[in-house]
Amino acid sequence: MAAGVWCESFASKTLFLWAFGAGVYNEIMEEEIMEKIILTGDRPTGKLHIGHYVGSLKRRVELQNSGNYDEIFIMIADAQALTDNADNPEKVRQNIIEVALDYLSCGLDPKKSTLFIQSQVPELCELTTFYMNLVTVSRLQRNPTVKSEIKMRNFEASIPVGFFNYPISQASDITAFKATTVPVGEDQLPMLEQTKEIVRKFNSTYGDTLIEPDILLPDNEACLRLPGTDGKAKMSKSLNNCIYLSDTEEEVRQKVMGMYTDPDHIKVSDPGKVEGNTVFTYLDAFCKEEHFERYLSEYKNLDELKAHYMRGGLGDVKVKKFLNAVIQEELAPIRARRKELEGQIPEIYDILKEGCKKARAKAAETVNEVKDAMKINYFEDGDLIKEQVERYKK
Ligand code: TRP
Repeated sequence: MAAGVWCESFASKTLFLWAFGAGVYNEIMEEEIMEKIILTGDRPTGKLHIGHYVGSLKRRVELQNSGNYDEIFIMIADAQALTDNADNPEKVRQNIIEVALDYLSCGLDPKKSTLFIQSQVPELCELTTFYMNLVTVSRLQRNPTVKSEIKMRNFEASIPVGFFNYPISQASDITAFKATTVPVGEDQLPMLEQTKEIVRKFNSTYGDTLIEPDILLPDNEACLRLPGTDGKAKMSKSLNNCIYLSDTEEEVRQKVMGMYTDPDHIKVSDPGKVEGNTVFTYLDAFCKEEHFERYLSEYKNLDELKAHYMRGGLGDVKVKKFLNAVIQEELAPIRARRKELEGQIPEIYDILKEGCKKARAKAAETVNEVKDAMKINYFEDGDLIKEQVERYKK
């Protein structure tokens, strides 16, 4: 190459970097080549409820159908579920199909999203083994989700190692698929933080290999954490305050009509509170303006309904009936689809089996890259063998 040409290209690149900053230059380059990949999942410890639906499932289906993602992986996290259900594998075993039925009936489409079961991808365990060396015990102890779960499960005196380790295993789930986007609820923020730390630590120790994922939170405040029908902070099976995606029309109606509202709103004429009033929180999560036209045309929108409630003169029963109509409209097609799918159980296991195959292939690629970076792919490492030959030559 002539010196002049070299100087010119060197000068123009330098100028470019000077003008835009190296960070921006790298970002532009990365964005051009980086695929957009989603990974997310759920523990199969029960049927999914409408909290799961507004908090993540509905969004996943929208993301799936947006065409903006190159690959989508949805994982049934049975191995993670076993970290705090070690004595009850039957519960996990029974609920895998429940979660799969819920996924498919909500519109996750196996042609567009790979649905798979965590324990059937052993490559995830390999990654976990290597990542464990990059995380300290005290860092895991500071993970806020782990902290509160230890309390909740009375694990303080004796924490199972597998449970303690699950944030690392979750980092494996995410990085194995090179996920760029992880749509989950805000309770998973500490897991994503921990994953990013592992990615940075791995990349700085062994060279750029893993992708730092971004969390994608629900964009509607009410959907971040839908309270139970009793007004308690969280829907939970043991509190019996969930509306399940698989509930019948009558079950949903009864649960809605029995919902917690404002305990001081006794007579219809009393002014009522909408904050902390579960019926209104659910309306925030589910209701659109078009629902008023269909089911409650005296009001134009939710703001008008809330204003009337706060002024007094609007009874709980009327609001609950409206909410019931709104929720039923959303759940009816899901319920119908579920009925159909319940007659195709062997086919659903086949879908999962196929998904596991695809997921394994992808995870195996990453494991191979990880081992390359760590230089522990001994048998493919011609240089290593030559080096040893030299060492023993004398
Ligand atoms: N921790 C998630 C939950 O409790 C399940 C999960 C396991 C997950 N691995 C994941 C979610 C990876 C997102 C990404 O629901």
